[in-house]
Amino acid sequence: MKMTKLSTKHLLGIKDLTQEDIELIFSTADNFKNVINRPIKKVPSLRDTTIANLFFENSTRTKISFELAEKRLSADVINFSASGSSVVKGETLIDTVNNILAMKVDVVVMRHPNPGAAVFLAKHVNSRIINAGDGAHEHPTQSLLDAYSIREKLGDVKGKKILIAGDVLHSRVALSNIFCLQKLGAEVMLCGPPTLLPKYISSLNVKVEYNLRKALEWCDVANMLRIQLERQNIKYFPSIREYTMLYGINKKLLDSLKKDIVIMHPGPINRGVEITSDVADSKQSIILEQVENGVAVRMAVLYLIAGRFGE
Ligand code: CP
Repeated sequence: MKMTKLSTKHLLGIKDLTQEDIELIFSTADNFKNVINRPIKKVPSLRDTTIANLFFENSTRTKISFELAEKRLSADVINFSASGSSVVKGETLIDTVNNILAMKVDVVVMRHPNPGAAVFLAKHVNSRIINAGDGAHEHPTQSLLDAYSIREKLGDVKGKKILIAGDVLHSRVALSNIFCLQKLGAEVMLCGPPTLLPKYISSLNVKVEYNLRKALEWCDVANMLRIQLERQNIKYFPSIREYTMLYGINKKLLDSLKKDIVIMHPGPINRGVEITSDVADSKQSIILEQVENGVAVRMAVLYLIAGRFGE
C-alpha cells in the first residue's frame, strides 16, 4: 500500500527519514512542480496555517525558496532574522521561539549556525520544526532537492555514482546528501584535501578519493561544494590558488573526461575557486534546475509536515 504520510512529525535531518518518506516527498513534489508551472501557481492546501521562517544565519536560496513555497500553498508567513531582533539583547532561542509561537504560529522553519539546534528546539517547544540548515550538521531540504534533481535528470537515483567534492568537513549539504543518496540506493564518493574530509569518514560507508580527476572519471554526477571560508578559523590548505589547481573543476578537465557527467552545486558558488564559470554555466550543469526544484520539494515537505495529514 502507498504511504500517504511521513513517519516523522518534524523534518530535523535525513537520518530520521525512511526511503518511503523520501519517495513520498518526491511524488508529492512532482504534483507541485506541475502546479508551479501553471499560469495560476497557488493552491489552498495550507490556508489558515501560519509558518515562521527563523533565520539565525544568512541565506539567499533556502529562505526565498521556503517563503515562495509557503506562499504558493496559501500559508500565512512571517520572516524573522536574528539581526535586528531581541536576540541581540540576549534573548534565548527557546524564549524567542515560544514568544513567536504564542502568536499562534503552527510551524517553524529554522536555520541556525549551531549543529543540533533544530533537534534541541523540537525537544523544547510545542510546534512542528523544519530544519533549514544547522551548522555543519544537516540541510535536509537541500539534499532532497539535490536527489530530486538527479532523479529528474537521470531517471533514477538508484545505482548512480555520485561524487561530493570539496569542503566536506564544514558542509551540512554533504552529510544530508550522503544519507539521502544512500537511502535511495546510490553509490557515494567523497573527494577533497585530507584536511577537509571528516575524521569519522569511515563510518559513512562512502568511497574516498583524493585525486579529483580519478573521482570525476568514476562518477555520473559531481556535486561541487563551496569552500566555507567563514567556518574555517585555521588554515586547511596552503592557498586558494593551490586548492583550485588540485580540487577545482574547469572546462578543460570536464571536456577531457571520456563521458558527459552532470554538474551540481548547492550554491552560493565561489566562481573560479571550486568551479569555473564556464563549467557552472555549461549545458552539463543543473545548478539552476536544483534551485527551481527547491520550491516544489519544499512545497511537498511543508504540505506533508505542516498540513494536518500526520495527525
Ligand atoms: N544552498 C543553500 O543553502 O544556499 P543559501 O545559504 O543561500 O540558503
